[in-house]
Parts: sequence; structure tokens; C-alpha cells
Amino acid sequence: MKLNIVLLVFVLISAAIVSAVNIPINTNKEKPEQQGFKFDYSIFQQDKLSSANGGSHCAGCTIALTLVEQYSYIHNKTIEQSLDEICTFFPSNAGQVCIWLVNTYGKSIIQNFEKYEHADDVCHAMNICTSPECRLFPSNTPTYSNPEHKHEEYDASNPKVSADPWSWIQNLINLFSSKHLPIEDIDNDKYSMESTFRGYSWRGKDCNDLRSDIHPGINEETTTDPSIDWNCNGIYGVNNKSQSYEDLFCSGSGPMGVIVSGDSAGAHFSIPPQWMTASQINSTTYNGFLSILENEVDWPMRSAYTGWEPSTDTYTVDSMYLRMRERNFCNHRDYQNLGVNGASSGSTATKIIQSLSRNQQTDNPALFFLELIGNDVCSGHHTYDTMTTPQEFETNIVSILNYLDTQLPKGSHVVFVGLADGRVLWDSLWNRTHPLGATYEEVYDFLNCIQVSPCWGWMNPNETVRDFTSTRAAELSAVYNQIIKNYTFTNFDMIYYDFPFNAINAQWVAQGGQTWELIEPIDGFHPNQITNYLMASFFYNSLTQDKPEWLGNINPFNSQIQAIFGNQGGYV
Ligand SMILES: *[C@@H]1O[C@H](CO)[C@@H](O)[C@H](O)[C@H]1NC(C)=O
Ligand SMILES: *[C@@H]1O[C@H](CO)[C@@H](O)[C@H](O)[C@H]1NC(C)=O
Ligand SMILES: *[C@@H]1O[C@H](CO)[C@@H](O)[C@H](O)[C@H]1NC(C)=O
Ligand SMILES: *[C@@H]1O[C@H](CO)[C@@H](O)[C@H](O)[C@H]1NC(C)=O
Ligand SMILES: *[C@@H]1O[C@H](CO)[C@@H](O)[C@H](O)[C@H]1NC(C)=O
Ligand SMILES: *[C@@H]1O[C@H](CO)[C@@H](O)[C@H](O)[C@H]1NC(C)=O
Repeated sequence: MKLNIVLLVFVLISAAIVSAVNIPINTNKEKPEQQGFKFDYSIFQQDKLSSANGGSHCAGCTIALTLVEQYSYIHNKTIEQSLDEICTFFPSNAGQVCIWLVNTYGKSIIQNFEKYEHADDVCHAMNICTSPECRLFPSNTPTYSNPEHKHEEYDASNPKVSADPWSWIQNLINLFSSKHLPIEDIDNDKYSMESTFRGYSWRGKDCNDLRSDIHPGINEETTTDPSIDWNCNGIYGVNNKSQSYEDLFCSGSGPMGVIVSGDSAGAHFSIPPQWMTASQINSTTYNGFLSILENEVDWPMRSAYTGWEPSTDTYTVDSMYLRMRERNFCNHRDYQNLGVNGASSGSTATKIIQSLSRNQQTDNPALFFLELIGNDVCSGHHTYDTMTTPQEFETNIVSILNYLDTQLPKGSHVVFVGLADGRVLWDSLWNRTHPLGATYEEVYDFLNCIQVSPCWGWMNPNETVRDFTSTRAAELSAVYNQIIKNYTFTNFDMIYYDFPFNAINAQWVAQGGQTWELIEPIDGFHPNQITNYLMASFFYNSLTQDKPEWLGNINPFNSQIQAIFGNQGGYV
């Protein structure tokens, strides 16, 4: 029997949910050597720091076994049959881990389901969850207090789920969490020919991975041989009068890349809902599973800032990058998404911003979005003390801007996006049913109980707490306009916009939509694909109105570029 990639997977997913928005460490308050390296996906360390009652292991166990329990019920199969079956739906290259987990836990899970019936109780019986108070389904009467059950206190330094698979996952995670740079990048120019692991899902595809002077974003005026496509925009060669096409079509067209630095919302974090909807689990549910993990469960290629994937029947994509490219085909492939799940102003300032690839001398200017919509006020801690203060926020943002002034080419522009007002989450979701079958209130309570909520402040039944969180978020957002007033930078100018969820929601509701339709169903927290799509036109329209000169002219040669170069090499 091959149980347990399932368990593994859902621990990982819950880790991803948590880390997507939750910084366990407020970097301002930590010793310098602790900054940076542990701020994201540090769920296993995080257990020691902040969680309780089993933490993420409890979340993973409960979620995974709830699905197994529901699957067995829906398909009238035993737990053993269900485990076997679901396990075959996962990619086979995770098999080693699967076998390890099965050998370790399979028997215990089956036996405990025979005794206790519900996932909450089974995870308690296995001492993976350790508090009787913390239940995903509080209305099921606890049964695990059966006299045979020996309670053990949770020991984060020796979690019940331990050893090999975790180091395997940890290694996988370290690959992308340490520097946020492509791992397949032979010439070290921070652009890749692979899609995942921070490759072209995130930054325009490299068209020559052996030369660091060839990559998206290069200003053609700094290049020589016109037969080479230096900036990978698909335009190269000469016409029958020996004139360089790049000169003819792009020189003086005001090319401008699009870059976003920010958090999981900027990277477009999204757990496919079918992964956690028992009624939809079948042999195709986990297709693409590994590449989704390799992209950190983010979808930058469909995001509001750097999306480039074509729309399909099931989703629509629009982005600032696509709009800039539509204005000027010379901008093809010039996008970078530096979003990191869990990023706050502190971690962006100390580390993440350095993953930017822009050469002040040889690259084109960029339209740079800085969006940090929640992690400065969100964590799993049940306290306000971990929230960033306005003074700390100012220090962090100014430090980011000072760095950008040394990196962005002259003529760049910075767009600040304010923090969200997350009260809308509770207000629109609390009494709705989560795909797992509990209400969102129950899911939020469960995550708070084990102290792994992505945002205790907003995913909280207490209105006072939610209001306080929003007040602090508004105070932090207000810092941006102060900075615009008080500072000037050599290489870019600045503008501020409120995070546009409320504007988009108002428009959506006016058209007959419901607010919950704009929020990611699994995490109950992130802006979903529809919201990303609508945010792109919000920012584009706002800039068209407020800063039309930032967008560059519409290139009169677009149709000629298309006639000669087709799709300019596409994206993949
Ligand atoms: C469920 O399966 C059992 C054993 O295979 C069978 O006896 C029972 O009739 C099935 N129930 C339904 C509703 O199909
Ligand atoms: C050069 O190309 C242009 C446009 O493609 C064409 O109209 C012209 O006839 C060509 N001239 C020669 C000498 O081939
Ligand atoms: C699996 O379920 C999805 C819906 O979640 C459905 O579209 C698909 O056709 C199903 N595939 C199979 C093989 O049953
Ligand atoms: C859920 O709560 C909202 C108020 O927050 C209320 O308007 C709505 O009717 C409730 N829905 C259900 C199904 O109880
Ligand atoms: C809500 O939170 C506030 C502030 O922490 C606290 O004083 C109050 O007692 C809480 N209310 C409830 C109903 O728990
Ligand atoms: C900006 O300047 C004003 C007036 O000098 C000062 O009160 C404020 O604290 C400054 N804010 C920032 C963010 O530097």
C-alpha cells in the first residue's frame, strides 16, 4: 500500500498556505544573521517559533485525512482502498517518499479510522494533533479520548512526522527559497530557458543561456551585431538595405519592462481547488503536481503584473506586462516577477529585492510595482506585537528604494500598491462552506487554534482584532505617500495606489457578482484569477489617466514587426 504521498503532500500544501502569507519572524526584531534565510517555507522551523497543538503537521494530517475520509465515503470504499487509490493519482517520481510514509503510518491510520471514524480524531490519536480544542469539524463529537489513547505532548523538535521525507521536501524547498533565482541558469544572467524554479514562468525566457550579455530587457542601443537577438524579443537581423530591424522598429520607441516585487499575491498564489475537494479527486486531479510545486504553488504567468499565458475556456489572463507589450512589441519577454510567498517589507529589503536583474548601463528602464499587501500585519501569532510599525515600514521601504536607485536604469517608474483591507475576507466568507466541508469560520478557527493561520488578524471572529489589523495596514499604506513627498531618487519617480480590491469588488458587485467569487477558495485569503485579471486593467487604466507618459508611445511599427517576426518566438 502506498499511502502517503497524500499526507506528505497536504502537509506541504498547508505549509505552502501558511508560508504564503505568514512571516513567523518580524525581521526587524531579529538578529541580523537570522534574517533572510528563514522567512519563507520555514514551516518546520516555524513550529518551534509560533505554532501550537501540532502546528502545520496537525493541519496537514487533518486536511489530508479529511479528504481520504470523504473520498472513502463518496466512493463507498474502505480507508485502505481509498489511500491506495489516491496515492496512484500522484506522480510516480515521488514514490520513494510515498513508500517510506506508507511503511511508517499506513497501518496506524487504518487502525485509527476503525476506532475513531473522523480525521480530527485519527490525527489526535496519532498524537500529530495534540489539543482536543483544535478541531476542523468542531460539531463532530470527539472520540479520541478513548481510554486506550495515550496522550503525548507535542514536541516540535521531534515531530511525529519526521526524518527522511522532510529533509527531502526541505531540500526541494531550499532550492527555491534561498535566493529566488532561476536554478537552471548557466550564464548566471538571472534568466533561464526552463519554466519552473524561477525560470520563464517568472522572468522572460532567455534565448541564449551561454552568454550573460544576451537576455530580456537589454537596450538595443548598447548592442552591436544586429544578427543576434540580444534582448530575446524576437526582433533581429537586417532588411534588404542592411538596416537593423531592431534599430528600425525599436530605437526611440521607448521600450519599458515590467517588474513586480512583492508577496504571494504578487506572485499569484493559488492552490488548485480540486486538490482539496474530495468529490472532484480522480486520476487527473494531481496532473502537473510537481511543476506546480516547483513554481512554489504560484502562478506568475497568470498574474496581474507579469501574466503572459493565453486565456483559455476556464480562465482569463491580463497583465500590465501584456498591456505594455501590446503598446510596443519591442517589449516582448521583458517581465520579471520577484514575488515571494510570505514576503514583507523587512524580508524584501534585506534580501528579496536582490533577486532583481536589471543593468543600469545596458538595460531598458522599467515600470516597477512594489506590492506588499499583508504580511507586515499578518502572522499566525495571536498578538499585535509582530506587526510592522510605520517607522519600521518606512525604514524598510526607503532601503528598498535606495537599492532600486542603484539598479534601475534612468527613466524607470515605481508604482506602490498599498496594503489590503482584509476585513472583506471575513465579511464575505465566514458562513460559507469551504471545499473541505467545514465553514470558513471553522477553518479559520482551526488554523488559529494550532497557530498556523496565514493571518490571525483578519481571519478572526473578533471584530476588534480585524479592525485593529486594518487600522495598522492603513497606517503602513499611508507611509508611501509620505515617502513620495519627502524623497526623490535619481533614476525613477513614484506613484501610490490603494490595493484595488475594494474598487474591483464594487464594480464586480455592481455587475451582479458576489465578493466571494474574487477570493481563492482554498486559502480563503488571496486574490484569485478573476481578481488578477481585473487588477491588470485597473492599474493600466489608472496609469493611462494619471501618468500616460510612463507607458511609452504606441509603436507604429507593431504591425510590421508582426508581419516579419510572427509571435516573436513566443514565451516557451
Ligand atoms: C458499499 O459497499 C459495500 C461492500 O462492498 C456494499 O455491501 C454496499 O451495498 C455498498 N453501498 C452502496 C450504497 O453502494
Ligand atoms: C526591399 O524590401 C522592400 C520591403 O520588403 C521591398 O518593397 C523592396 O522591393 C525590396 N527591395 C529590393 C531591392 O529587393
Ligand atoms: C476528473 O475530475 C474532473 C473535475 O474535477 C473532470 O473534469 C475530469 O473529466 C475527471 N477525469 C476523469 C478521468 O474522470
Ligand atoms: C452569511 O452572513 C451574511 C452577513 O455576514 C448574511 O448576509 C448572509 O445571509 C449569511 N448567509 C447565510 C447562508 O447564513
Ligand atoms: C476581542 O479582542 C479584544 C482585543 O484583543 C478583546 O479585548 C475582547 O475581549 C475580544 N472579544 C471577544 C468576544 O473575544
Ligand atoms: C516626511 O516629512 C514630514 C515633514 O517633515 C515628517 O513629518 C514625516 O515624518 C516624514 N515622513 C517620512 C515617511 O519620512
